[in-house]
This record gives sequence, C-alpha cells and structure tokens, in this order.
Amino acid sequence: MASMDWRKSVVYQIYPKSFNDTTGSGEGDIRGIIEKLDYFSKLGVDYLWLTPVYESPMNDNGYDISDYYEVNPQFGSKEDLKELLEKAHEKGIRIMMDIVINHTSTEHQWFIESKKSKDNKYRDYYIWKDGTYDQPPTNWESKFGGNAWNYDKQTNQYYLRLFDITQADLNWENEDLRRDIYDMINYWIDFGVDGFRFDVVNLISKGEFVDSDGPGKEFYTDGPKVHEYLNELNRNTFGDKDIMTVGEMSSTTIDHCLKYTDPERNELNSVFNFHHLKVDYPGGEKWALANFDFLELKRILMEWQVAMDEGGGWNAIFWCNHDQPRVVSRFGNDETEENRVLSGKMLAIALHGLKGTPYIYQGEEIGMTNPAFKRIDQYRDVESLNAYSILRDKGMDASHIMDILATKSRDNSRTPMQWDDSLHAGFTEGEPWIEVSDRYQKINVTHALEDEHSIFYTYQKLIRLRHEIDVLTYGSVEPYLMDDENLFVYTRIHEDESIMVIANFRNKEVPYPENISVEGEILLSNYDDRKDVLRPYEALMVYGQDE
Ligand code: NOJ
Repeated sequence: MASMDWRKSVVYQIYPKSFNDTTGSGEGDIRGIIEKLDYFSKLGVDYLWLTPVYESPMNDNGYDISDYYEVNPQFGSKEDLKELLEKAHEKGIRIMMDIVINHTSTEHQWFIESKKSKDNKYRDYYIWKDGTYDQPPTNWESKFGGNAWNYDKQTNQYYLRLFDITQADLNWENEDLRRDIYDMINYWIDFGVDGFRFDVVNLISKGEFVDSDGPGKEFYTDGPKVHEYLNELNRNTFGDKDIMTVGEMSSTTIDHCLKYTDPERNELNSVFNFHHLKVDYPGGEKWALANFDFLELKRILMEWQVAMDEGGGWNAIFWCNHDQPRVVSRFGNDETEENRVLSGKMLAIALHGLKGTPYIYQGEEIGMTNPAFKRIDQYRDVESLNAYSILRDKGMDASHIMDILATKSRDNSRTPMQWDDSLHAGFTEGEPWIEVSDRYQKINVTHALEDEHSIFYTYQKLIRLRHEIDVLTYGSVEPYLMDDENLFVYTRIHEDESIMVIANFRNKEVPYPENISVEGEILLSNYDDRKDVLRPYEALMVYGQDE
C-alpha cells in the first residue's frame, strides 16, 4: 500500500465479539468484519484496530492471551485474518492489532511452566514474591478489585496480577521474556499487519515492591525502565517499518507522554490517556454516580492538547472505547431522538477538530447509547461483576449499584453493533452473548445510511476534512473561554489556515461570546442554518484562510 503520513489518519476500533456474527454463534467473528469492509470505505477510515483476537479463555474478552501466535477459533482462523488483511488493503484500509504485553492469561504455556517450580526456566517470566498465607507481598490493589497478588500453594509464593486473577503480570526485567515478546511482534509484522495498539504498556516496568499509601500505582505506572524497554521494543521490531503504534497509558503524565511519542526517542507514535474520561468520577471514584464536570473536561483536554502540541508529542483523541460508556449518554443527551442526534454530532465536531489521531469506536458513528440494563444477569464484564460484589459486600443497596453500572460499566459499550431493525439488530442469527440495546429499532446502521442528516454523515465529513485540510493535522491549538460553563471553543492554526470549533454542550440557547469572532466558511455544523444565538448542542467548525 502507498505510504501516507500516519498523522492524517483516522482509526476505527472494532470489538470483534460484538461486531458482526456470521456463524450464528452469538459472538462476532473475523469474517463478520470482512463482510463490512464496504461500510468502512463509505465512512472513510484509514485503520481498523481489532481488540485482541488471539487464543484466550476470554475471562477479560481476549485481554487474557493464552497463545499470541494463534487466532481464537471463536473469531475464525489465521486464514480469515489473512483474508481480512488482503481485502482491507485492496480498499486502502490498514489493520492494527492489539498487543497485550503487560500480562498473559494464566493459561499461557509460559505461566503453566512458571507455576511448576521455583527453578523452572519460565519462573522469572512472571513476578513471584514471598508472603505469608494471609499476608500478600504488598498491599497493592488490583485494578479489577481485591489485592493485586494471588497466592499459589504449589510453590508457596504469590504472583502479581494488576488485573484479573487469570491475568498474570510479565516480568520485563527478564531478557529472555523480552526477546520472546519481540519475536512475537515480528511474527505479526511479517504476517502483514500495519500497526499495533499496546495495552496498558506504561505498566510494564515495575519499581520497588513495597506497601503503598494508596492502591500502589506509583510503583508501576510509567515505571523506572519503561522508556528503555519501549525504545528496545521499537529497535527490535517496528522501528524501521511503516507501522503505526499507539500505547494505552494508564494514569500517566504529560511529561511521560511527551517522551513516549518524541520521534527522536524512538518509542511509540502516539498515546491514549484517560484523564478527561474521569470527570464523572467524584473524588476519583469510578463506582459512584455524578454529573460530569464540564470545566474540568475542558481543562484536562486542553492542557494535554497544548502541552503535547508545544512539546512535539502526539495524542490519540477519543471519547469512546470498549472500556468506556457511550459518549452520547455520558457527555451528550440520549433522552430524545432529536437531542441524541444533535449532541452526538456536537461531540463528534468538538473532538475531531482537536490535534492528534481521532479514534471512532464501533457504533459511535451512529450515536449508539448505553443500553440501560436493569438486572445484574444482563452484565458480562469481569470488572463490573467484581465491582457489584465488592459494593454489595460494603453494604451498598443493590438498586443503587445497578444505577451506577448503568452509567459506568464497560458493558455499556460492548452490546452488539446495531446494523438494522431485524431481530438482534442484524448482529447475529443466534442468541447474542450479551443483550442488544432495546433502542436498536431506531438506532441502527441501515437507518443512519438512509438519512442524510444522520450522525454517520457528520463523522464521514469529519474524516474527509481531516484528510483534506492540513490545519486539522498540523495546526497548533489555542483554547478559549476556559471558564465558560457552556461552550467549548478552540482554534487551530497552521501557516495561512485556521479552524475554529465552537460547541454548545448544553440543552439550551447560549449567546455567541462577545469577544470572539466566529467568521469564515462553515465547514460543518449540526444545524442547517445559522442564528444569532447558539441553539441547544449547536456546534460549528469554521475555516479561515489569510488573503
Ligand atoms: C485495557 C483494556 O482496554 C481493557 O479492556 C483490559 O481489561 C485491560 N487493559 C487489561 O488488559
């Protein structure tokens, strides 16, 4: 495929299990992705990022890999994956794989060996420490709840697991492990993939193993050797190739992200950070109800935008992924069809004017909403189910927990893709592994494509603009009205071109700001005309060029 500046690209994230089922198993598969390639061409995206499709017991839906070299038969075969690559390439679409190298499944052969004895060749592929039966090595907390160490009676030691009990953390201090990881990545490069998303990759270097005053994050987040390891990874694998990379960075800092993405340092191309998606975590607590803090959302987004721009770093920009609730339900308004469409478009315009690589998560482009599940048996996600039992143990009322899950659970974004208004939204002819949102009869791809005013066409236009207008890729970022309670406003400037984005986040009319001139060609808006006030959720992208 002809090479292009990766910075101009837009990525579409696929959660294969919920995307399109061609076998009637109730779970999506790779052939289901092949079947929809024309849909991606129509949308105009450059890359498809597939969340993990490797062999896995699926306790964390593939983020628990038991064999890096095999495709999970539930998703199809390696031949299917090859065909996906070929057919996508024919359409000018590239494929990014998700690589999980902070941990593996405890069913991975390395762990099975590692567990056998203290002198096993693979013992040091993982992090084993002494403790006593009821006293783990440190008080660190797992991100999925509970202590982060799991006791193994065979060798009377604990292994570290920052996520599920079945996801054991790898020991990056071990050179043999690192070499095996690089071989595996090179295998997928030779296979023909075009990019990698590295799961929680800023957690791979652990520091001291001592007790913490909090959950322990300071000992392994952006750890002591993380930059060294990423540079080594880069040099040994994708560094000299046309491969796009993005690292998922958990609780990271701007300083580290500037380093991760500094082209001179040869680590990664770009980074995801999540600070802007914690603005509805009161006091930092995810499992609690709260309205989102709009001023904080702007402050965080813009702090990252400006600092990464000025420091020569590169952000991934996104509202949604498979771990986050649906944005239109979260920062928009899904209560009426009109508001869903207006706010869905507004959020798209507000985000896609920013600097960085835009990511679209399946269903976002048609404004899919949280499914509003009412019962715990509708949930599948390990993190949500753990949170439910932990909160119950703490004495929280079950119906209150259900309200929290309905806004915070990762399953909010994992319900099946809504293709049409037939049974199960056209996702499967079998029984879906997780229920389809009951709004699928209105909110589905077929409807969206038929309606020229749908959210889909706003995304399509935004992608086209990103390809055509340099200022969207290269322009510097300047925020305005940071104390304004309603409006999100910024400009982008590059050579003689400028873009202004102005977005009303509220369900009410808001006057145009007095000290800002919104003049120029309207590239995109979510209303057909212009008034002297900004109407509910009105958003404009305005283009200017010096004479
Ligand atoms: C981040 C992934 O996005 C999430 O889905 C997963 O549970 C954790 N990393 C652990 O791999």
